[in-house]
Amino acid sequence: MHNFDLFLPTKLIFGKDRLSELPEVLRPLGSRILITYGGGSIVKSGLLDSVKKMLRDFTIFELSGIEPNPRITSVRDGVTVCKKEKIDILLAIGGGSVLDCTKNIACGVFYDGDPWDLVLDTSKITKALPIVDIITLAATGSEYDAGGVITNLEKKKKRAIIHPMLIPYASFCDPTLTYSVPAWHTAAGAADIMSHTFEQYFVRDGNILTDGMCEAMLRTVITMTPAAIKDPDNYEARAQLLMVSSFGCCNLLCIGRTPSTWPCHAIEHEISAFHDITHGVGLAIITPHWMRYSLNGETAAKFAQYGRNVWNITEDDNMKAAEKAIDKTAEFFASIGIPSKLSEVGVTDEHFEKMADHIPECWASLKDSLVPVDRDGVLEILRNSL
Ligand code: NZQ
Ligand code: ZN
Repeated sequence: MHNFDLFLPTKLIFGKDRLSELPEVLRPLGSRILITYGGGSIVKSGLLDSVKKMLRDFTIFELSGIEPNPRITSVRDGVTVCKKEKIDILLAIGGGSVLDCTKNIACGVFYDGDPWDLVLDTSKITKALPIVDIITLAATGSEYDAGGVITNLEKKKKRAIIHPMLIPYASFCDPTLTYSVPAWHTAAGAADIMSHTFEQYFVRDGNILTDGMCEAMLRTVITMTPAAIKDPDNYEARAQLLMVSSFGCCNLLCIGRTPSTWPCHAIEHEISAFHDITHGVGLAIITPHWMRYSLNGETAAKFAQYGRNVWNITEDDNMKAAEKAIDKTAEFFASIGIPSKLSEVGVTDEHFEKMADHIPECWASLKDSLVPVDRDGVLEILRNSL
Protein backbone atom coordinates (compact mmCIF):
# COMPACT_ATOMS: atom_id res chain seq x y z
CA MET A 1 0.00 0.00 0.00
CA HIS A 2 1.45 3.36 -1.04
CA ASN A 3 1.05 6.47 1.11
CA PHE A 4 -1.40 9.03 -0.22
CA ASP A 5 -2.96 12.47 0.28
CA LEU A 6 -6.58 13.12 -0.54
CA PHE A 7 -7.91 16.68 -0.46
CA LEU A 8 -11.40 17.16 -1.92
CA PRO A 9 -12.78 20.46 -0.62
CA THR A 10 -15.08 21.26 -3.57
CA LYS A 11 -18.77 21.23 -2.82
CA LEU A 12 -20.37 19.21 -5.62
CA ILE A 13 -23.96 20.40 -6.04
CA PHE A 14 -25.34 17.60 -8.14
CA GLY A 15 -28.71 17.09 -9.79
CA LYS A 16 -31.49 18.82 -11.67
CA ASP A 17 -33.17 21.94 -10.30
CA ARG A 18 -30.17 22.87 -8.15
CA LEU A 19 -29.09 26.02 -10.01
CA SER A 20 -31.46 28.16 -7.96
CA GLU A 21 -28.92 27.69 -5.15
CA LEU A 22 -26.28 29.64 -7.11
CA PRO A 23 -26.85 33.11 -5.57
CA GLU A 24 -26.56 31.80 -2.01
CA VAL A 25 -23.38 29.88 -2.88
CA LEU A 26 -21.81 32.99 -4.43
CA ARG A 27 -22.92 35.59 -1.87
CA PRO A 28 -20.26 34.92 0.83
CA LEU A 29 -17.54 35.22 -1.83
CA GLY A 30 -18.20 38.78 -2.98
CA SER A 31 -20.33 40.80 -5.38
CA ARG A 32 -18.30 41.33 -8.57
CA ILE A 33 -18.40 38.28 -10.78
CA LEU A 34 -16.65 37.47 -14.04
CA ILE A 35 -18.65 34.86 -15.96
CA THR A 36 -16.37 32.92 -18.30
CA TYR A 37 -17.69 30.82 -21.17
CA GLY A 38 -16.86 29.30 -24.52
CA GLY A 39 -17.99 29.59 -28.09
CA GLY A 40 -21.69 30.11 -27.49
CA SER A 41 -23.33 26.83 -26.45
CA ILE A 42 -24.60 28.48 -23.25
CA VAL A 43 -25.94 31.45 -25.19
CA LYS A 44 -27.81 29.16 -27.56
CA SER A 45 -29.25 27.03 -24.77
CA GLY A 46 -30.44 30.07 -22.81
CA LEU A 47 -28.33 29.10 -19.78
CA LEU A 48 -26.33 32.33 -19.77
CA ASP A 49 -29.50 34.44 -19.73
CA SER A 50 -31.08 32.49 -16.92
CA VAL A 51 -27.91 32.66 -14.81
CA LYS A 52 -27.67 36.41 -15.36
CA LYS A 53 -31.29 36.83 -14.28
CA MET A 54 -30.60 34.82 -11.15
CA LEU A 55 -27.61 37.03 -10.37
CA ARG A 56 -29.24 40.43 -10.89
CA ASP A 57 -28.11 41.55 -7.40
CA PHE A 58 -24.45 41.01 -8.35
CA THR A 59 -22.26 43.06 -10.69
CA ILE A 60 -21.57 40.89 -13.71
CA PHE A 61 -18.79 40.99 -16.28
CA GLU A 62 -18.28 38.48 -19.10
CA LEU A 63 -15.39 36.79 -20.87
CA SER A 64 -16.61 34.81 -23.88
CA GLY A 65 -14.96 32.83 -26.65
CA ILE A 66 -12.78 30.50 -24.59
CA GLU A 67 -11.63 27.87 -27.05
CA PRO A 68 -11.64 24.06 -26.72
CA ASN A 69 -7.99 23.35 -25.81
CA PRO A 70 -8.01 26.80 -24.16
CA ARG A 71 -5.33 29.25 -25.15
CA ILE A 72 -3.06 31.28 -22.93
CA THR A 73 -4.30 34.33 -24.87
CA SER A 74 -7.79 33.86 -23.33
CA VAL A 75 -6.18 33.56 -19.90
CA ARG A 76 -4.39 36.87 -20.45
CA ASP A 77 -7.66 38.55 -21.51
CA GLY A 78 -9.37 37.23 -18.37
CA VAL A 79 -6.60 38.42 -16.08
CA THR A 80 -6.80 41.90 -17.61
CA VAL A 81 -10.56 42.13 -16.96
CA CYS A 82 -10.19 40.86 -13.39
CA LYS A 83 -7.50 43.37 -12.54
CA LYS A 84 -9.34 46.29 -14.17
CA GLU A 85 -12.78 45.48 -12.73
CA LYS A 86 -11.63 44.25 -9.31
CA ILE A 87 -13.40 40.92 -9.71
CA ASP A 88 -14.19 38.94 -6.53
CA ILE A 89 -15.39 35.63 -8.00
CA LEU A 90 -14.95 33.67 -11.21
CA LEU A 91 -17.99 31.79 -12.46
CA ALA A 92 -17.06 29.35 -15.23
CA ILE A 93 -19.95 28.00 -17.31
CA GLY A 94 -19.14 25.32 -19.86
CA GLY A 95 -16.90 22.32 -20.40
CA GLY A 96 -13.45 21.56 -19.06
CA SER A 97 -11.79 24.07 -21.39
CA VAL A 98 -13.70 27.00 -19.93
CA LEU A 99 -13.00 25.87 -16.40
CA ASP A 100 -9.31 25.18 -17.04
CA CYS A 101 -8.83 28.63 -18.54
CA THR A 102 -10.65 30.11 -15.54
CA LYS A 103 -8.30 28.32 -13.14
CA ASN A 104 -5.29 29.91 -14.81
CA ILE A 105 -7.03 33.31 -14.69
CA ALA A 106 -7.77 32.81 -10.98
CA CYS A 107 -4.08 32.62 -10.07
CA GLY A 108 -2.89 34.92 -12.86
CA VAL A 109 -4.70 37.85 -11.22
CA PHE A 110 -2.26 37.76 -8.29
CA TYR A 111 0.86 37.50 -10.43
CA ASP A 112 2.62 40.47 -12.01
CA GLY A 113 4.13 38.65 -14.98
CA ASP A 114 2.65 36.56 -17.80
CA PRO A 115 0.24 33.83 -16.55
CA TRP A 116 2.06 31.30 -18.77
CA ASP A 117 4.91 31.54 -16.22
CA LEU A 118 2.53 29.95 -13.68
CA VAL A 119 1.80 27.04 -16.00
CA LEU A 120 5.53 26.39 -16.30
CA ASP A 121 6.26 26.91 -12.60
CA THR A 122 3.38 26.52 -10.16
CA SER A 123 5.60 27.48 -7.22
CA LYS A 124 4.96 31.07 -8.37
CA ILE A 125 1.26 30.74 -7.50
CA THR A 126 0.60 32.64 -4.28
CA LYS A 127 -3.15 33.19 -4.28
CA ALA A 128 -6.19 32.59 -6.46
CA LEU A 129 -9.67 34.05 -6.84
CA PRO A 130 -12.47 31.70 -5.76
CA ILE A 131 -13.87 29.64 -8.62
CA VAL A 132 -17.44 28.42 -8.92
CA ASP A 133 -18.48 26.51 -12.01
CA ILE A 134 -21.50 25.17 -13.80
CA ILE A 135 -20.18 22.22 -15.75
CA THR A 136 -22.00 21.42 -19.00
CA LEU A 137 -20.05 18.42 -20.31
CA ALA A 138 -19.17 15.10 -18.67
CA ALA A 139 -15.49 14.58 -19.43
CA THR A 140 -12.51 16.12 -17.72
CA GLY A 141 -13.45 16.11 -14.04
CA SER A 142 -12.02 19.64 -13.83
CA GLU A 143 -15.02 20.50 -11.64
CA TYR A 144 -13.54 18.34 -8.88
CA ASP A 145 -9.80 18.69 -9.31
CA ALA A 146 -6.90 21.06 -8.89
CA GLY A 147 -5.76 20.99 -12.50
CA GLY A 148 -6.21 22.90 -15.71
CA VAL A 149 -4.67 22.37 -19.12
CA ILE A 150 -3.57 25.39 -21.17
CA THR A 151 -2.26 25.62 -24.71
CA ASN A 152 0.38 28.08 -25.88
CA LEU A 153 0.03 27.98 -29.65
CA GLU A 154 3.08 30.13 -30.32
CA LYS A 155 5.27 27.72 -28.40
CA LYS A 156 3.30 24.62 -29.54
CA LYS A 157 2.94 23.55 -25.93
CA LYS A 158 -0.02 22.21 -24.04
CA ARG A 159 0.67 21.93 -20.34
CA ALA A 160 -1.17 21.11 -17.13
CA ILE A 161 -1.25 23.62 -14.30
CA ILE A 162 -1.96 21.86 -11.01
CA HIS A 163 -2.20 23.59 -7.63
CA PRO A 164 -4.47 23.11 -4.59
CA MET A 165 -5.59 26.75 -4.80
CA LEU A 166 -7.21 26.00 -8.16
CA ILE A 167 -9.73 23.51 -6.80
CA PRO A 168 -13.20 25.01 -7.37
CA TYR A 169 -15.05 26.29 -4.32
CA ALA A 170 -18.28 24.75 -5.62
CA SER A 171 -19.34 22.95 -8.79
CA PHE A 172 -22.90 22.74 -10.05
CA CYS A 173 -23.39 19.45 -11.89
CA ASP A 174 -26.83 19.39 -13.47
CA PRO A 175 -27.15 16.46 -15.89
CA THR A 176 -29.94 18.22 -17.83
CA LEU A 177 -27.37 20.83 -18.91
CA THR A 178 -25.51 18.07 -20.75
CA TYR A 179 -28.54 17.06 -22.88
CA SER A 180 -27.39 19.42 -25.63
CA VAL A 181 -23.86 17.98 -25.88
CA PRO A 182 -23.56 16.60 -29.43
CA ALA A 183 -22.75 12.92 -30.00
CA TRP A 184 -19.14 13.69 -30.93
CA HIS A 185 -18.38 15.43 -27.63
CA THR A 186 -20.45 12.93 -25.65
CA ALA A 187 -18.26 10.17 -27.07
CA ALA A 188 -15.06 12.15 -26.60
CA GLY A 189 -16.02 12.91 -23.01
CA ALA A 190 -16.70 9.23 -22.39
CA ALA A 191 -13.29 8.30 -23.79
CA ASP A 192 -11.68 10.93 -21.57
CA ILE A 193 -13.36 9.52 -18.44
CA MET A 194 -12.26 6.01 -19.43
CA SER A 195 -8.73 7.18 -20.07
CA HIS A 196 -8.48 8.90 -16.67
CA THR A 197 -9.52 5.60 -15.18
CA PHE A 198 -7.13 3.49 -17.25
CA GLU A 199 -4.23 5.80 -16.41
CA GLN A 200 -4.76 5.10 -12.71
CA TYR A 201 -5.84 1.46 -12.99
CA PHE A 202 -2.95 0.17 -15.10
CA VAL A 203 -0.13 0.76 -12.62
CA ARG A 204 2.19 -1.67 -10.91
CA ASP A 205 0.48 -1.97 -7.51
CA GLY A 206 -3.21 -1.54 -6.87
CA ASN A 207 -5.64 -2.53 -4.14
CA ILE A 208 -9.04 -4.16 -4.01
CA LEU A 209 -10.93 -0.95 -3.23
CA THR A 210 -9.63 1.21 -6.06
CA ASP A 211 -9.43 -1.66 -8.57
CA GLY A 212 -13.15 -2.06 -7.95
CA MET A 213 -13.85 1.68 -8.19
CA CYS A 214 -11.99 1.88 -11.50
CA GLU A 215 -13.81 -1.14 -12.90
CA ALA A 216 -17.18 0.34 -11.85
CA MET A 217 -16.25 3.66 -13.49
CA LEU A 218 -15.48 1.83 -16.72
CA ARG A 219 -18.65 -0.27 -16.64
CA THR A 220 -20.67 2.89 -16.06
CA VAL A 221 -19.22 4.65 -19.10
CA ILE A 222 -19.54 1.57 -21.30
CA THR A 223 -23.19 1.15 -20.38
CA MET A 224 -24.31 4.77 -20.27
CA THR A 225 -22.55 6.33 -23.26
CA PRO A 226 -24.49 4.45 -25.96
CA ALA A 227 -27.69 5.25 -24.07
CA ALA A 228 -26.86 8.98 -23.93
CA ILE A 229 -25.93 9.06 -27.61
CA LYS A 230 -29.12 7.24 -28.62
CA ASP A 231 -31.34 9.40 -26.42
CA PRO A 232 -29.58 12.66 -25.51
CA ASP A 233 -32.28 13.57 -22.97
CA ASN A 234 -31.91 10.32 -21.01
CA TYR A 235 -31.51 11.74 -17.49
CA GLU A 236 -30.17 8.56 -15.90
CA ALA A 237 -27.52 8.07 -18.58
CA ARG A 238 -26.41 11.71 -18.51
CA ALA A 239 -26.43 11.71 -14.69
CA GLN A 240 -24.32 8.58 -14.36
CA LEU A 241 -21.81 9.91 -16.89
CA LEU A 242 -21.60 13.27 -15.14
CA MET A 243 -21.18 11.62 -11.77
CA VAL A 244 -18.30 9.39 -12.86
CA SER A 245 -16.60 12.20 -14.75
CA SER A 246 -16.07 14.07 -11.48
CA PHE A 247 -14.11 11.18 -10.01
CA GLY A 248 -11.70 10.80 -12.94
CA CYS A 249 -9.02 13.26 -11.87
CA CYS A 250 -9.71 14.00 -8.21
CA ASN A 251 -7.14 11.46 -6.96
CA LEU A 252 -9.71 9.20 -5.33
CA LEU A 253 -9.11 6.46 -7.90
CA CYS A 254 -5.39 6.31 -7.18
CA ILE A 255 -5.34 6.17 -3.38
CA GLY A 256 -2.83 3.60 -2.15
CA ARG A 257 -1.75 2.70 -5.69
CA THR A 258 1.56 3.18 -7.50
CA PRO A 259 1.51 6.86 -8.60
CA SER A 260 0.06 7.20 -12.08
CA THR A 261 2.29 8.40 -14.88
CA TRP A 262 -0.49 9.30 -17.35
CA PRO A 263 1.23 8.05 -20.54
CA CYS A 264 -1.78 8.42 -22.84
CA HIS A 265 -2.39 11.96 -21.60
CA ALA A 266 1.27 12.82 -22.11
CA ILE A 267 1.06 11.71 -25.73
CA GLU A 268 -2.38 13.20 -26.44
CA HIS A 269 -1.46 16.61 -25.04
CA GLU A 270 1.44 16.74 -27.48
CA ILE A 271 -0.80 15.79 -30.37
CA SER A 272 -3.39 18.43 -29.55
CA ALA A 273 -0.67 21.05 -29.00
CA PHE A 274 0.34 20.58 -32.64
CA HIS A 275 -3.00 19.66 -34.23
CA ASP A 276 -5.75 21.07 -31.97
CA ILE A 277 -7.79 17.84 -31.99
CA THR A 278 -10.52 16.92 -29.49
CA HIS A 279 -8.77 15.63 -26.36
CA GLY A 280 -10.98 12.56 -25.78
CA VAL A 281 -10.81 11.55 -29.42
CA GLY A 282 -7.02 11.61 -29.37
CA LEU A 283 -7.04 9.50 -26.22
CA ALA A 284 -9.43 6.93 -27.67
CA ILE A 285 -7.22 6.51 -30.74
CA ILE A 286 -3.99 6.13 -28.78
CA THR A 287 -5.26 3.99 -25.91
CA PRO A 288 -5.55 0.57 -27.61
CA HIS A 289 -2.05 1.09 -29.06
CA TRP A 290 -0.65 2.04 -25.67
CA MET A 291 -2.34 -1.06 -24.25
CA ARG A 292 -0.75 -3.30 -26.90
CA TYR A 293 2.61 -1.64 -26.27
CA SER A 294 2.22 -2.36 -22.53
CA LEU A 295 1.01 -5.95 -22.81
CA ASN A 296 3.61 -8.57 -21.97
CA GLY A 297 3.95 -11.70 -19.87
CA GLU A 298 4.15 -9.68 -16.66
CA THR A 299 1.28 -7.29 -17.32
CA ALA A 300 -1.13 -9.76 -18.96
CA ALA A 301 -2.78 -10.60 -15.64
CA LYS A 302 -3.79 -6.95 -15.09
CA PHE A 303 -5.23 -6.57 -18.59
CA ALA A 304 -7.00 -9.93 -18.16
CA GLN A 305 -8.52 -8.71 -14.89
CA TYR A 306 -9.81 -5.65 -16.76
CA GLY A 307 -11.26 -7.92 -19.45
CA ARG A 308 -12.98 -10.23 -16.99
CA ASN A 309 -14.36 -7.57 -14.62
CA VAL A 310 -15.30 -4.94 -17.17
CA TRP A 311 -16.06 -6.86 -20.37
CA ASN A 312 -17.17 -10.19 -18.83
CA ILE A 313 -14.53 -12.09 -20.79
CA THR A 314 -14.55 -15.72 -19.69
CA GLU A 315 -11.21 -16.77 -21.22
CA ASP A 316 -8.94 -18.55 -18.66
CA ASP A 317 -5.64 -17.80 -20.34
CA ASN A 318 -4.41 -14.36 -19.20
CA MET A 319 -2.74 -13.38 -22.45
CA LYS A 320 -5.77 -14.34 -24.54
CA ALA A 321 -8.14 -12.58 -22.13
CA ALA A 322 -5.92 -9.48 -22.22
CA GLU A 323 -5.86 -9.40 -26.03
CA LYS A 324 -9.63 -9.74 -26.17
CA ALA A 325 -10.01 -6.92 -23.64
CA ILE A 326 -7.88 -4.61 -25.76
CA ASP A 327 -9.87 -5.50 -28.87
CA LYS A 328 -13.10 -4.82 -26.96
CA THR A 329 -11.77 -1.42 -25.93
CA ALA A 330 -11.01 -0.44 -29.54
CA GLU A 331 -14.39 -1.81 -30.72
CA PHE A 332 -16.19 0.20 -28.06
CA PHE A 333 -14.59 3.47 -29.13
CA ALA A 334 -15.49 2.71 -32.76
CA SER A 335 -19.07 1.85 -31.75
CA ILE A 336 -19.60 5.32 -30.25
CA GLY A 337 -18.38 6.99 -33.43
CA ILE A 338 -14.74 7.75 -32.67
CA PRO A 339 -12.25 7.32 -35.55
CA SER A 340 -9.58 4.71 -34.98
CA LYS A 341 -6.65 6.46 -36.68
CA LEU A 342 -4.94 9.78 -36.07
CA SER A 343 -4.82 10.35 -39.83
CA GLU A 344 -8.65 10.44 -39.81
CA VAL A 345 -8.54 13.55 -37.59
CA GLY A 346 -5.93 15.35 -39.66
CA VAL A 347 -2.78 14.30 -37.83
CA THR A 348 0.33 13.50 -39.89
CA ASP A 349 3.70 12.21 -38.75
CA GLU A 350 5.32 15.58 -39.49
CA HIS A 351 5.82 16.52 -35.83
CA PHE A 352 6.20 13.07 -34.26
CA GLU A 353 9.92 13.51 -33.58
CA LYS A 354 9.35 16.88 -31.87
CA MET A 355 6.52 15.38 -29.82
CA ALA A 356 8.73 12.53 -28.77
CA ASP A 357 11.40 15.06 -27.70
CA HIS A 358 8.94 17.12 -25.65
CA ILE A 359 7.25 14.27 -23.83
CA PRO A 360 10.12 12.82 -21.78
CA GLU A 361 11.19 16.42 -21.01
CA CYS A 362 7.84 17.20 -19.33
CA TRP A 363 6.68 13.77 -18.18
CA ALA A 364 9.82 12.32 -16.62
CA SER A 365 7.75 9.82 -14.68
CA LEU A 366 6.87 7.90 -17.86
CA LYS A 367 9.86 5.70 -17.17
CA ASP A 368 7.90 4.42 -14.14
CA SER A 369 4.82 3.42 -16.15
CA LEU A 370 3.43 -0.10 -16.05
CA VAL A 371 5.81 -0.67 -18.96
CA PRO A 372 8.28 2.24 -19.24
CA VAL A 373 7.50 4.57 -22.14
CA ASP A 374 10.72 6.11 -23.45
CA ARG A 375 11.25 8.24 -26.55
CA ASP A 376 11.18 5.19 -28.81
CA GLY A 377 8.06 3.96 -27.05
CA VAL A 378 6.30 7.28 -27.68
CA LEU A 379 7.22 7.07 -31.37
CA GLU A 380 6.05 3.47 -31.60
CA ILE A 381 2.65 4.31 -30.08
CA LEU A 382 2.28 7.39 -32.29
CA ARG A 383 3.20 5.51 -35.48
CA ASN A 384 0.89 2.61 -34.69
CA SER A 385 -1.93 5.09 -34.05
CA LEU A 386 -1.49 6.89 -37.39
O1 NZQ B 1 -17.41 26.42 -26.34
P1 NZQ B 1 -18.84 26.02 -26.29
O2 NZQ B 1 -19.70 26.77 -27.23
O3 NZQ B 1 -19.39 26.01 -24.89
O4 NZQ B 1 -18.92 24.51 -26.87
C1 NZQ B 1 -18.23 23.43 -26.29
C2 NZQ B 1 -17.02 23.00 -27.09
O5 NZQ B 1 -17.16 23.30 -28.45
C3 NZQ B 1 -19.12 22.22 -26.37
N1 NZQ B 1 -20.04 22.09 -25.25
C4 NZQ B 1 -19.76 22.07 -23.92
N2 NZQ B 1 -20.89 21.88 -23.22
C5 NZQ B 1 -21.90 21.82 -24.11
C6 NZQ B 1 -21.36 21.96 -25.40
N3 NZQ B 1 -22.13 21.94 -26.51
C7 NZQ B 1 -23.45 21.77 -26.33
N4 NZQ B 1 -24.04 21.62 -25.12
C8 NZQ B 1 -23.29 21.63 -23.99
N5 NZQ B 1 -23.89 21.44 -22.80
O6 NZQ B 1 -18.23 21.11 -26.34
C9 NZQ B 1 -17.02 21.50 -26.97
C10 NZQ B 1 -15.86 20.94 -26.18
O7 NZQ B 1 -15.79 21.58 -24.93
P2 NZQ B 1 -14.48 21.44 -24.02
O8 NZQ B 1 -14.70 22.26 -22.81
O9 NZQ B 1 -13.27 21.72 -24.85
O10 NZQ B 1 -14.47 19.89 -23.70
P3 NZQ B 1 -13.90 19.11 -22.46
O11 NZQ B 1 -14.74 19.30 -21.28
O12 NZQ B 1 -13.68 17.76 -22.95
O13 NZQ B 1 -12.49 19.82 -22.17
C11 NZQ B 1 -11.34 19.50 -22.90
C12 NZQ B 1 -10.14 20.22 -22.34
O14 NZQ B 1 -9.87 19.80 -20.99
C13 NZQ B 1 -8.51 19.35 -20.88
C14 NZQ B 1 -8.24 18.81 -22.25
O15 NZQ B 1 -6.87 18.65 -22.50
C15 NZQ B 1 -8.88 19.87 -23.13
O16 NZQ B 1 -8.05 20.99 -23.25
N6 NZQ B 1 -8.40 18.43 -19.74
C16 NZQ B 1 -8.55 18.93 -18.50
C17 NZQ B 1 -8.38 18.15 -17.37
C18 NZQ B 1 -8.53 18.70 -16.01
N7 NZQ B 1 -8.76 19.96 -15.83
O17 NZQ B 1 -8.42 17.99 -15.03
C19 NZQ B 1 -8.02 16.74 -17.45
C20 NZQ B 1 -8.24 16.17 -18.81
O18 NZQ B 1 -7.47 15.02 -18.92
C21 NZQ B 1 -7.97 17.08 -19.95
O19 NZQ B 1 -6.61 17.08 -20.32
ZN1 ZN C 1 -8.24 13.65 -20.03
